[in-house]
Amino acid sequence: MISFARGAPAPECLDADLLADCARSAIEADPSVLAYGSGGGYAPLRESLGARHGVEPGRVLLTTGGLQGFVFYAEELLGSRPGRVLVEAPTYDRPLKVLARLGADVVALPMDDEGLDPDALARELAAGETSFLYTIPTFQNPSGRTLSTDRRRRVVELAAEHGVPVLEDDPYGLVRYEGEAPPSLFDLEGGTLVTYASSFSKTVAPGLRVGWFVAPAELAARIEARAVSTYISPPFLTQATVHELMTRGAFEPNLERIRGLLKARRDAMRGALERELGGGDATWSEPQGGYFLWVDVPGETADLLQRAEAAGVTFVKGSDFFPNGAGERSARLAFSYASPSEIDSGVSTLASLLRA
Ligand SMILES: Cc1ncc(COP(=O)(O)O)c(C=O)c1O
Repeated sequence: MISFARGAPAPECLDADLLADCARSAIEADPSVLAYGSGGGYAPLRESLGARHGVEPGRVLLTTGGLQGFVFYAEELLGSRPGRVLVEAPTYDRPLKVLARLGADVVALPMDDEGLDPDALARELAAGETSFLYTIPTFQNPSGRTLSTDRRRRVVELAAEHGVPVLEDDPYGLVRYEGEAPPSLFDLEGGTLVTYASSFSKTVAPGLRVGWFVAPAELAARIEARAVSTYISPPFLTQATVHELMTRGAFEPNLERIRGLLKARRDAMRGALERELGGGDATWSEPQGGYFLWVDVPGETADLLQRAEAAGVTFVKGSDFFPNGAGERSARLAFSYASPSEIDSGVSTLASLLRA
């Protein structure tokens, strides 16, 4: 099966020798990584990420992956600020499942090629109590779209006007193949309402399960208490491994290597789509980075998915990314996992099914 479903890095992206060496050095340099410790994570990594974001290390929480951090954040916010949760439509499917489990009232905000529609945000903020806004402004999962700088300013202004907390989820921002990075919402707003979240899953390896949150101090303390009561302390060994990777200056070269591997895949998918479907009824997003591309087609993608899987290709149908059952004619194609030649042949298969 050729997988356009997995939002995971291709196996070649994971440098096992480098990470094994970093893990060994990390234990030898600081055997306390094998003990229990602070619920907020390995102190030296909190310090270096704090310095990167210009905040006190206590505001940085290292979580067992970004999704675990999302669960803590959502539980805290829904408990302390009852109200609707505003999300982009489409948005990352796992948080939608978490929010459904927590009984949240989820409101979908429309997007276009420039990302979240700020006018729709303004209308919803005026329409009732909001617990928080969840947004993935850069190389969004699932659409691959990036919120323009003007809209970022508007989103931050609206959040400030209504005093509404924002969770900026940014695991893909560093996986940029070309173009200038826009400012983060966190930097534009100053981090009083915006909590910034990211992860080393897409830039180093997902199996490390190291994510981080930069939250306002009081919220960070509450999330840390929640982490302690959930797992005592997170896995320090993988956090210390990442710290070692950074301090020995290997993070950037490794990221550059990953960018090269993934850009070749993005180019292969774009080229194959253009060759097979260019000039027809299908349209797709043009991401400058990240893992995903969003395709709109004339027919229902639930049906296409069944036929594609029978022909050896899989993807995620668009409706999985909407809280309200839209997206029936869309699909998320992840280009991060399959090889360029698999991408080429997988897109040919999808295109022939669409033509049939
Ligand atoms: C937008 C977004 N946030 C968070 C995550 C979770 O990543 P992890 O839990 O591996 O850090 C993902 C993974 O696909 C993602 O796409």
